[in-house]
Amino acid sequence: MRENSVYNELLDLANKYPFRPILLDLGCLMGTDARNLIRDGYNKSGGQILACDLEQRFIDLGYKLYQDGPESTHPTPIRFFTGDIFKMSIAPPTEATEHGRDLPQNLTLDGVKGKLDFVYAGALFHLFDEPTQRDLAFRLARLIQMPSDSSGQLPDAIIFGRHAGLDEEGYISGHFVGGRWGQRYGHSPTSWVRLWKSIYTELYGHEWVEENIQANAVMQRINTKVKMLFWSVRIKRSYR
Ligand SMILES: C[S@@+](CC[C@H](N)C(=O)[O-])C[C@H]1O[C@@H](n2cnc3c(N)ncnc32)[C@H](O)[C@@H]1O
Repeated sequence: MRENSVYNELLDLANKYPFRPILLDLGCLMGTDARNLIRDGYNKSGGQILACDLEQRFIDLGYKLYQDGPESTHPTPIRFFTGDIFKMSIAPPTEATEHGRDLPQNLTLDGVKGKLDFVYAGALFHLFDEPTQRDLAFRLARLIQMPSDSSGQLPDAIIFGRHAGLDEEGYISGHFVGGRWGQRYGHSPTSWVRLWKSIYTELYGHEWVEENIQANAVMQRINTKVKMLFWSVRIKRSYR
């Protein structure tokens, strides 16, 4: 997460929010990135961090590694929970949800939908084929809080992440995913930006996107073999 060029911008923005911003790390694994956010000052002015994974055992391994589980003497302020993003309803958040930013005691993805300011997805998109990546992007957009009327002012939101990409979009050959050979799509920086603009166009229309969406993606080499797409979508939350 730290290697994403939007990281420092997000930390600055979070600390200037007029209320406590909420960030979700989706597919958090053991929660290393989420814990680094605290070290880097994300919650200096009270920002909250939620971290969700499909598998409770990864979250438990994180508690064990960092010795900061709920029963420890120094429990982490990060609120970890399990959830499958593909099981979250894709319906827009209900009005009641949009108005309240209060989080439920038992966190679920449906319970936090429409309440978030920042969403991170590290090494998640590249597990899936092209239509599933589009579905996932749509779901991340749904997680973000949008103003419910024209008087509702909200500071910018950011969705960001990194995952395997290709210089020219296409299928990534021969990768083992979740115990089976899966079809994995690799977006290029250009097709990735296009994907996000089309998601927001579907939601709020072309003109809104032109004024309110700033999407960036670059391929960065992370070792001699692998290049990854580092990307961010900054959303100016004007009423649509
Ligand atoms: C490759 S790991 C990435 C870990 C970390 N975010 C990173 O950047 O290194 C992908 C994680 O996503 C989780 N995951 C996969 N499918 C998911 C889903 N449908 N909903 C939530 N988490 C999921 C996996 O359990 C795994 O921990």
